[in-house]
Order: sequence, then structure tokens, then C-alpha cells
Amino acid sequence: MPDHLIDPYGRRVGYVRLSVTDRCDLRCFYCLPDDYRGDSEPEDWLTFAEIERLIGAFIALGVRRVRLTGGEPLTRRDLPDLAGRLSRIPGLRDLSLSTNAVALARQARALHAAGVRRINVSLDSLRADRFRQITRGRLDKVLAGLMAARAAGFAPVKINMVVMKGINDDEIEDMVAFCIEHDFTLRLIETMPVGDTGRNAASHYISLREIRERLESRFDLTPGVMPGGGPARYVQVAGTDLRIGFITPISQHFCETCNRVRLAADGTLYLCLGQDHKFEFRPLMRAGISDAELLDAVCEAIAMKPERHEFRERPQQVVRFMGITGG
Ligand SMILES: C[S@@+](CC[C@H](N)C(=O)[O-])C[C@H]1O[C@@H](n2cnc3c(N)ncnc32)[C@H](O)[C@@H]1O
Ligand code: SF4
Repeated sequence: MPDHLIDPYGRRVGYVRLSVTDRCDLRCFYCLPDDYRGDSEPEDWLTFAEIERLIGAFIALGVRRVRLTGGEPLTRRDLPDLAGRLSRIPGLRDLSLSTNAVALARQARALHAAGVRRINVSLDSLRADRFRQITRGRLDKVLAGLMAARAAGFAPVKINMVVMKGINDDEIEDMVAFCIEHDFTLRLIETMPVGDTGRNAASHYISLREIRERLESRFDLTPGVMPGGGPARYVQVAGTDLRIGFITPISQHFCETCNRVRLAADGTLYLCLGQDHKFEFRPLMRAGISDAELLDAVCEAIAMKPERHEFRERPQQVVRFMGITGG
């Protein structure tokens, strides 16, 4: 793999989270405010051709994995076309998707045919009334989307559950049973103070150490591995195929192995989820930057990657909502 994308702390950046829109058809209370109408104008979003060119530059410099995210990526028109364009770029090994799955039942087959192979679905509750309170959306649509993903051949299908004290922390065992039944992988996530919404949810923060101890008292857990597992630390539930990942940005951060950057829909590259360091590609691209200059610009951006987030020390730091950088 080319060694061009090594940041000042010696970490090789091999993964881009690509937000294709900052819009969403849900309003998870810890992510986007009720009255949110979008942060940028759609005409400011990179076109598919611009995305393909920019992601192509990252891949030429060593990126091997891209995840489509948002906002809600399925609300971006013709997403399977974009997925197909990206999956055909030589050198890309892994194209994945993070989605709320509301519109997945309609798009699962086309996305799989376009080369998306792995999928993460946000699901914080299996109770329709609670799901509506958390997200303002309908659980039945998400469940239909999950089943469509399975039928279309996505593997693995991972469930992302943000665990919140007093909101859904009593549902983890139910989620474990659901994932065993349907052969999904479960990933538990700590709330992060990203945007005012994320900070408002901080009162529901619960350390996943506590949850892990609780699960250990009920299940026989052994260390597990998960290809492409990213920052999650996995355990396997003995006697089942279920793997559970713990994503602990607050109680045990994983910045020293961070290999990722986040490209927002408007072409702004964010170097860290918990910091404001950023590099704007859209003005350069629309001013006619050459291919060689674009490669230099990507290297320049990676050189700005900060050492770590400061969610604990400076929880007020990040003003943008999670739905802008795609988690
Ligand atoms: C911003 S969403 C974008 C993709 C898609 N809409 C979805 O929900 O999967 C990506 C992930 O960020 C998580 N997220 C959003 N706000 C968060 C917060 N304040 N703390 C922790 N996770 C958060 C969501 O639960 C989701 O799993
Ligand atoms: S977490 Fe995902 S589904 Fe929920 S509001 Fe944010 S972007 Fe939308």
C-alpha cells in the first residue's frame, strides 16, 4: 500500500467516511435538532463526478475502505449509481454503508448489486413507541429494511445501538436475543458530546464498562474478532454466532489507532470527529485544480490530523451535529 497518507502521529489513514448528504428523514434526539433543515445547500454538495474524482485521489494515495454515510445516505438521490462508480475505482477493497434503514427495503438490492457489501444499521430500540420517541420515525420500516438487507446478501449486517441510561439501557438483552435470532452483529456505542444535541444527551451517558460487566454476568463472553471492526472491541457470546462490539470513545478512547477521516457532503474534510480541524476541497476542485495538485492537497489535509479528541476535557468543542460528519 502506498505510504503517502501517514499523519504526524504515525497513523496510516486508510479509511474515508463519506457523507453524501447532511439531510435525514429521522430526528434522533442525540444527533439532530427537531427543527434542523440542513447545514449546507444541495448545490454546494459535491456532485457524483466530484466525489468520484476526490475519492479516487484518496485511493491513489492508499485509502482502501470507504463508508457511505450522512445524514441519511439513502435520502441522496441515485445513491446506487454513486456506489457503483466508487466500487469500480481500482484499489478500493471495501465499500460499506451506515444507514437508519428507513428506506432500505426499496434500495437494498440495488446497493448490493452496485458493490456495497457491508452495512451498519442504527437501531436503538425494538419497541415501536420508544423508537418513535428517540427518532420520530417508524420501527416497522427499519425492520423491513433490515430483512431486505439480509435477503439482498449483505454480510455482515451490524446493528448500531447508542446506549442511553434511562432511555434504552434496559433493552440490551432484548437486542442480544434479536441479533442472535437474525444473525446480526451488535455494536453498542457511548453517547458523544457532538453538537448541542449530543451534549443534551450527555445526561443519559452510561459507560459501556458497566454494560459489559452486566452482560458478563448473564452470558459467557469470550474475546472476539471482527474483520473491519474499526474501533469496536469485540466479544463473542459462547454457544452462539453473535459478536458484540463495544465502541467506547468516552470511557476508553481509541485515538492512537485512528485510521479515518470524514468527508462532508459539501467537500469539507474533517480530520477528527471531536475536533474542528478541516480542509475544504470544493473551492479547489471548482477552481480547476489539476490531478497532481489534488493529490498534494489530500496529503496536506492529512498532515492536519490532530492527535486525539477531547470529549472529556473539552465537551463544548464540537458545534456541528453528528449528522454533518456521519458519525
Ligand atoms: C450520524 S449517523 C449517520 C448514518 C445514518 N443516518 C445512521 O443513523 O446510521 C451515524 C451514527 O452516529 C451515531 N450518533 C449520532 N449522534 C451520536 C451521538 N451524539 N453520540 C453517539 N453516537 C451518535 C448514530 O447512532 C449512528 O449510528
Ligand atoms: S443518527 Fe442517523 S438517523 Fe438518526 S438523526 Fe442522525 S443522521 Fe439521522
